[in-house]
Amino acid sequence: MPPTNVSVSFQEEFSEAAELWNLNGLYLKLAKQKLTVNGRETELTPVEKACLRGLLCGYSPKEIAAFVHWTYGAISVELTKGLYRYVEALTGRESNTLKTWRNIPKWLEAAGYKTPAPRQDCEEALDVSAFYGRTEELNTLKQYIGNKGCRLVALLGMGGIGKTSLAAKLVQDMQGEFDFIVWRSLRHAPPLKQLLANLIPLLSQQPYSLLEDTNLLISQFIECLRVRRCLVVFDDIEMLMRSGNRAGYYREGCESYSEFMRQLSQQPHQSCVIFNSWEKPLEMELLEKKTCYACSLKLDGLPFKVARQILEAHNLSGIETEWDQLIRIYGGNPLALNIAATMIKEFFNSSISEFFSLNTLIISEPLKAILFEHLSRLDSSERQVMCYLAAHHQPASLNQLRNHFNFKEFAPLDSACQLINVLQSLERRSIIEKIANKSGIVFTLQPSVMKVTQEYCNV
Ligand SMILES: Nc1ncnc2c1ncn2[C@@H]1O[C@H](COP(=O)(O)OP(=O)(O)O)[C@@H](O)[C@H]1O
Ligand SMILES: [Mg+2]
Repeated sequence: MPPTNVSVSFQEEFSEAAELWNLNGLYLKLAKQKLTVNGRETELTPVEKACLRGLLCGYSPKEIAAFVHWTYGAISVELTKGLYRYVEALTGRESNTLKTWRNIPKWLEAAGYKTPAPRQDCEEALDVSAFYGRTEELNTLKQYIGNKGCRLVALLGMGGIGKTSLAAKLVQDMQGEFDFIVWRSLRHAPPLKQLLANLIPLLSQQPYSLLEDTNLLISQFIECLRVRRCLVVFDDIEMLMRSGNRAGYYREGCESYSEFMRQLSQQPHQSCVIFNSWEKPLEMELLEKKTCYACSLKLDGLPFKVARQILEAHNLSGIETEWDQLIRIYGGNPLALNIAATMIKEFFNSSISEFFSLNTLIISEPLKAILFEHLSRLDSSERQVMCYLAAHHQPASLNQLRNHFNFKEFAPLDSACQLINVLQSLERRSIIEKIANKSGIVFTLQPSVMKVTQEYCNV
């Protein structure tokens, strides 16, 4: 019997069962079975209801007993005399044929008492009501996910370029093709174990049994992706990356994400995981070469026509060349354009001409903050190259860079190999522009990036 000094209402216990099960329907139908089993029909008792909810959540009778502060023996008697027999009767089975409590959720699911899974779990509202252009990029992503069957897709590009918006638009367009859609921002750099402990019960719809081993957790997560076709978006992955190193290394405590990415692309499953990042993780470079199931798409600025639509929504005025110049200065970065448009509205009477009449490029604080954050992640060699390009103003070829750095005081950069590694790293960060022109390949910075880098480097 229950100890009298512990108060248990039997109302709250295992209430999460309601998320997946038609509880009211079950209470009614099981109560009707009491007539068959006991010869009289009465409601299920509060303790019977709590036991049912516990079993449906995957708790054993022993665990349920501990929760409700009854002895295991008392709970066993209660179940054997009551609930087990009602479930047998409800699901058309002979009495005493239930061999394990684990069959209770299975039998009731097969009888149709489990409600369909929630189709989406997006922790942030994804607003794509004012989304322009990106048709080509959307088609590429749909092809990756559809025809090519990519299991891991990286959506890359500097802050504000439109990764989150594009992924949200993709989710909206493709939701009908998936059984489940999950969206998580990793901006607080959760340890992988914590992330998976949140996602596995959600996707498997089973209670989470604590696993300590990260590899086992990864396998369990991939099993979920195998059973159902899920679209999982991990946003803000750059927050997992290390500062002060070359691009693409995970910070301390997040190293296991590298193995996670590898397995997501190499283990067979029918789902797709998309991640958005400023920086391309190093293993992604290798995975793209090793397997056709890992793909990446780097976002550039919006083309003039589309960027113009964004600016026009702010009701600015200006002559044709000024609109184009404004878009070029901010490299077609939609966030930078929105910030600039707000500044022009507030300080220049919505006139682009007035803004340009100052003859100086004004970068407002929010944009500066984002670019400074990009710059603060660089290692010392990367910083040297960025500062040179910012001071040089003009695009520079590899040879020009080599000649410049070919002095003793730039020791870490005195070989072509070192320099190429640094340029590749800056490219992985989406912070440098590589342009192929008539005289060959040159490297430069977008005007707004150049201006902020000049300030950052004191040049
Ligand atoms: N294609 C687009 N059309 C209209 N606005 C866009 C578009 N892409 C991005 N934006 C806007 O630009 C800003 C930055 O976009 P976001 O997707 O958050 O960039 P990122 O995730 O790359 O940092 C947001 O305010 C967003 O609404
Ligand atoms: Mg984003």
